[in-house]
Amino acid sequence: MAATTTQTKEQVSLKLLVNKETNKVLFAEAGKDFVDVLFSFLTLPLGTIARLVEKESSVGPVTLGCLNSLYHCVEDLDEGCLGTKINKEMLLQPANSSEDYCSSLKLNIDDTEPTKYFLCTKFPSCVDRCLSISLDKFKCRCKNPLNRSVMMKHFRNGFVNSGATFIIKDDLTVMPNSMDVTNFSLLQNFGIKSASSVKEMNVSVTKEKVLNLLKCSLFSKTLLTDLFLRGNKDRKPSLERPRFFQITLKLVTRKSDNKFLYAQGEHDFADMLLNFLVCPLGGIVRLLGGSSLGSIDALHHSIAYLDICNFVSEKEKDMIVVPRLAYQYFLLSKEILPSRLNNYCCYYQPRKFDIEGIAHNQIFMTNERIYDWGDFCELYPESPKVSYQGYVKGPRIYVATDDLVISPLSPITLLDLLNRFKTSVGDLKEKVVTIGIKECLSILKAALTSTSALSNGLAHLLAEVKEKIRE
Ligand SMILES: *[C@@H]1O[C@H](CO)[C@@H](O)[C@H](O)[C@H]1NC(C)=O
Ligand SMILES: *[C@@H]1O[C@H](CO)[C@@H](O)[C@H](O)[C@H]1NC(C)=O
Ligand SMILES: *[C@@H]1O[C@H](CO)[C@@H](O)[C@H](O)[C@H]1NC(C)=O
Ligand SMILES: *[C@@H]1O[C@H](CO)[C@@H](O)[C@H](O)[C@H]1NC(C)=O
Repeated sequence: MAATTTQTKEQVSLKLLVNKETNKVLFAEAGKDFVDVLFSFLTLPLGTIARLVEKESSVGPVTLGCLNSLYHCVEDLDEGCLGTKINKEMLLQPANSSEDYCSSLKLNIDDTEPTKYFLCTKFPSCVDRCLSISLDKFKCRCKNPLNRSVMMKHFRNGFVNSGATFIIKDDLTVMPNSMDVTNFSLLQNFGIKSASSVKEMNVSVTKEKVLNLLKCSLFSKTLLTDLFLRGNKDRKPSLERPRFFQITLKLVTRKSDNKFLYAQGEHDFADMLLNFLVCPLGGIVRLLGGSSLGSIDALHHSIAYLDICNFVSEKEKDMIVVPRLAYQYFLLSKEILPSRLNNYCCYYQPRKFDIEGIAHNQIFMTNERIYDWGDFCELYPESPKVSYQGYVKGPRIYVATDDLVISPLSPITLLDLLNRFKTSVGDLKEKVVTIGIKECLSILKAALTSTSALSNGLAHLLAEVKEKIRE
């Protein structure tokens, strides 16, 4: 709300229990303000994470596998390749589906612009009930422009119950602060025999600390210790760790040393890779059965097992464990990440009593249906035409290097590429392969933790190339 924006130094406090001998955090105790922020990480699209973790803070910039190079190549793609300016915006400032839940977070590090909504200029007398999300360029079914801006009112407030408190282990496993953990077994599990071997610490978490938390969650399994006890100067993550559609690709390797150089495909291939940027982290963890990123899997796993009574409702839990795509990406990306759609309701005759933040008789929208607020109608979002056509233009050939830098291919750019690899045309070996969703996910998995997404993700296909060479 408006009141919170005036305070620049928001902070949330956290209580840590530290083992004095090893100087390690055993666990933290936290309430809703902190836990909601932690859970919201899972609803962030990968492109947003790539953008945020590159920012300067005391941990230093961090990269997320290949996703930063993928993100930056979108900045370099010109409008000739990307259908419109809007497509670029959709990839560089990815929308999330959790806006309703996260707009009230006490420490919000996501600087994505709030989504805008537009109704028919003739609303409410127009009966078609069309809604345009983000853009005011579309026409209603009645042929009038969808350009009447309408306010979206958010009623949800984070994910967990306001009274609930939680125990968070050093690897981000979250447990409710219940009878089970407050008995002595928890302390015994940590090998704590007496109160003199532990100390309590109060720390305050600011926005900068949250950014550090997000960065460290991607590579550290002893996150609270790293963040609050080690100061974490100069810690950089090590990068060297661990059929719905069919796309035809050419995999190009160097004959002399079998090194994978690049893959070449049409616009559907480029779109498949660009889709990674708009998928929310938690959805990816669930889809891949784990991400191998720092503490993220422990966090996701523990939330999935948290009892529903800790959450405001089932919806809130679902939102983090199975976060969806934002509406704008639904048609293009749903093959990678199956999703459901939000409801959109418009209250065009609000009741006379006051609803906080709504002026008398002002038209407003929500994602909820609440009957005593007055007359409302369901709205039907216009098909997101941008997404139908894909992010990049086709038919056209694109190349992607192993770290997922995508560029359009022409004879000249091919020569540049070969120059960069110090390779001659005669030394190239190519193989045509067809890949589907399985390979796509395998590339995505490799992209999260390595800078060689294609050669790791398609290793089995490349191995066959090598065998053929040997024959
Ligand atoms: C989702 O996007 C909105 C802006 O559209 C932003 O305010 C919110 O913080 C984002 N969600 C998360 C989890 O950051
Ligand atoms: C919407 O479009 C109509 C017709 O072009 C125009 O008359 C009207 O001023 C526009 N409204 C807004 C809010 O831009
Ligand atoms: C403490 O809780 C655990 C379950 O987490 C249980 O197995 C154990 O018996 C409890 N101990 C006591 C002393 O209540
Ligand atoms: C931490 O804060 C609580 C109150 O919020 C206080 O009771 C406790 O003594 C503090 N602990 C330390 C070590 O400062």
